[in-house]
Amino acid sequence: MYTWWPETSWQSSAASNAVTVPLIGGGRTRSLLAEVSGVELERLRQSVRGHVLIDEPMSSHTSFRIGGPADLLVYVQDEEDLQHAAGWFRRQGLPFKVVGNGSNMLVSDAGIRGGVIKLTPRFNQVSFEGDTMVVGAGAKLARVVQQAAEAGLSGLESTVGIPGTMGGALVTNAGTDTGSIGDLVSEALLMDERGQIRTWNAQELGYRYRYSKLPASRMIVMRARLALTPAPKEEIQVKMSRLGEKRAGRQPLRFWSAGCVFKNPLELAAGKLLDRSEAKGMAIGGAEVSRKHANFIINRGGATASDVRGLIDRLHHLALLTYGLDLELEIELVGEWNS
Ligand code: EPU
Repeated sequence: MYTWWPETSWQSSAASNAVTVPLIGGGRTRSLLAEVSGVELERLRQSVRGHVLIDEPMSSHTSFRIGGPADLLVYVQDEEDLQHAAGWFRRQGLPFKVVGNGSNMLVSDAGIRGGVIKLTPRFNQVSFEGDTMVVGAGAKLARVVQQAAEAGLSGLESTVGIPGTMGGALVTNAGTDTGSIGDLVSEALLMDERGQIRTWNAQELGYRYRYSKLPASRMIVMRARLALTPAPKEEIQVKMSRLGEKRAGRQPLRFWSAGCVFKNPLELAAGKLLDRSEAKGMAIGGAEVSRKHANFIINRGGATASDVRGLIDRLHHLALLTYGLDLELEIELVGEWNS
């Protein structure tokens, strides 16, 4: 099963297994750890090399810098850790979510009931087999793009500036107007709900615009094979610089955010339609619709998840009223929400 990754440099990581529990009454519901014995918790601590944290604020793990506590957060350092941690959550009957960089999610103020498995930077290994790049899901996309360029392999330039990890990118089919990660994936190595390792090819992954079959499958992504194309290194670097500058010119990259809030509908880019609807500068609490790009909500400092959620709802209504378009969220809502 692991034959396409060298044993000495194997890696893992991912994103999926969304935990969205309806909130009963206001505020946070009871920690699911109340159901877990101290002995079991100690067993988890002994079986993984990474730290195990209780009531860990998710604001420290998201690019929005927003989010209430996760009942339990487990750092995993390698595939063995990942299997132990995921197996432990399954045996306890606790939901869990794997997170990479937390750059495409809004975690509720009440936080996450159950667990978060967080990949440590050790999951970032990369190897080359001819024109194929094999990438662990914990690798930061920015670093992967640079490594491909240094190896004279083209294809990943279209993802320049995307802040997440390879795992998150693989699950959401992250990309730009010039291409998406799914265009390059030939195979992905996954862990299923029973802890079994499986390989899915491009057809099974079912990539479409900002979509893959991974979230619904509840598989954990461990690594992927990317089919790249040889090209002169200078040419790749020039393209990367051009796309990077374009992005920096259009997006509020100096502020905390989770990137584009809505997917682009077929009819019109979400940013364009929200801009034409005069959404820029709308604010609730510490959350504001960026004045630079109308499909970004930024945290000006002190924004809560409910501020951002309120603004999302307002933008959604606005698009319905002005253009009759039912915008679909691009960012993921995670944790306990009132509705
Ligand atoms: N526009 C406006 N006003 C705005 C924002 C955009 O008129 O406030 C117009 C632009 O002038 C352009 C069109 O809307 O004509 C599209 O805007 P842009 O080129 O900025 O691209 P986008 O469609 O808004 C997409 C991805 C981005 C990615 C850029 C790279 C989606 C939802 N967004 O944005 O991805 O960085 O292309 O060009 O597909 C993300 O995934 O988080 C993300 C931000």
